[in-house]
Amino acid sequence: MIYLDNSATTKPYKEVLDVFTKVASHYFGNPSSVNALGSEAEKLLNQSREVISKLLNIHPSEIVFTSGGTEGNNIAVKGTALKYRSRGKHIITTTVEHASIYEGYKQLEQLGFEITFLPVNERGRISIDQVQRAIRKDTILVSVIHVNNEVGSIQPITEIGEMLKKYPHVLFHVDHVQGIGKVPLDFKRSNVDLCTVSGHKFHSVKGTGFLYVRKGIKLEPLFTGGSQENSLRAGTENVSGIVAMTKALRMTMDHQQNKIAHLTHLKNLLFQFVEKTEQTVLNTPKEWSAPHIINFSIPGAKPEVIVHALEEHQIYVSTKSACSSKQTSASRILLEMGKDERVAESAIRISFSAETTIEEVKKCMAVIEDILQQNKVIMR
Ligand SMILES: Cc1ncc(COP(=O)(O)O)c(C=O)c1O
Repeated sequence: MIYLDNSATTKPYKEVLDVFTKVASHYFGNPSSVNALGSEAEKLLNQSREVISKLLNIHPSEIVFTSGGTEGNNIAVKGTALKYRSRGKHIITTTVEHASIYEGYKQLEQLGFEITFLPVNERGRISIDQVQRAIRKDTILVSVIHVNNEVGSIQPITEIGEMLKKYPHVLFHVDHVQGIGKVPLDFKRSNVDLCTVSGHKFHSVKGTGFLYVRKGIKLEPLFTGGSQENSLRAGTENVSGIVAMTKALRMTMDHQQNKIAHLTHLKNLLFQFVEKTEQTVLNTPKEWSAPHIINFSIPGAKPEVIVHALEEHQIYVSTKSACSSKQTSASRILLEMGKDERVAESAIRISFSAETTIEEVKKCMAVIEDILQQNKVIMR
């Protein structure tokens, strides 16, 4: 099997699954219980917080464990909106956010919030100037995706954070779900207040993640109940998942620069292939893009036919983002980047992990070439 859909999810590392099973079977106490089993579980939670905070250069108390990216994004954006609505009801974001952010804005608009969606250029990027020009007296939040999940464009997070220092009334949230481990981000140096991370994108189990909440930032909780996670996220913690995610993060950060160099090499191989192939159009920008995502189109083709043709060779890629790929319409992100309809409705996304080999990428390219040469592509 050649798995090239790592932006949708990654295969958990064996060591991560071993840790998960061990904790789930031996340390199943409730960390809020006062008995010895509960204390053991609480100790594991605290240790996880310590390890993650060291890896990311943050404070342990700044970590709120969640079930993943969707939850982290919802707590960050809606929690800010509800907490600061008496101060202002204006939020700035981009037109290329993940659905877990984008859809929430529709609900906030119904509650009277005004959202400014900054348009992106042909590379899928916004500029610092655009953000600065959109800031108003009643702006409470700027929320920006770090690495776009469909095309891999990188936003200028550190520069936006630097500029926002002049506006202390505006909080800065970053959706770092696709960036972690692949496009390093220093939360403190980038002046980030809130940052979303999801475990299953870096070889942890599903249902794990965390939200970084800078010390002193107050949010309205979306789940109420017990006082877990500083009363920001009520509910018994997923202890085995959290310990497993910590292991996955530690493994991901190990030799990070070498892994990024390897991913970049793979990406360049695929870039060259897409550029020399007549029927394909490259959508991922050559500069300012993450090393693990390549998006290209075969204008006129039905992308799902390519996906299934590759599947016959046990090669797994995707069309759009996993959560919208079952809709056959054109990609919202590609249209926002100014691509025409034929390009936007025929996109293929290939995404690597550090475990992907050169041979696997070469095999994938050979099969695509074969599919195109034999005219197996069904045109619309
Ligand atoms: C950029 C981005 N944000 C948020 C999410 C949602 O994360 P999760 O699947 O953990 O809910 C995803 C998942 O694809 C993503 O790519």
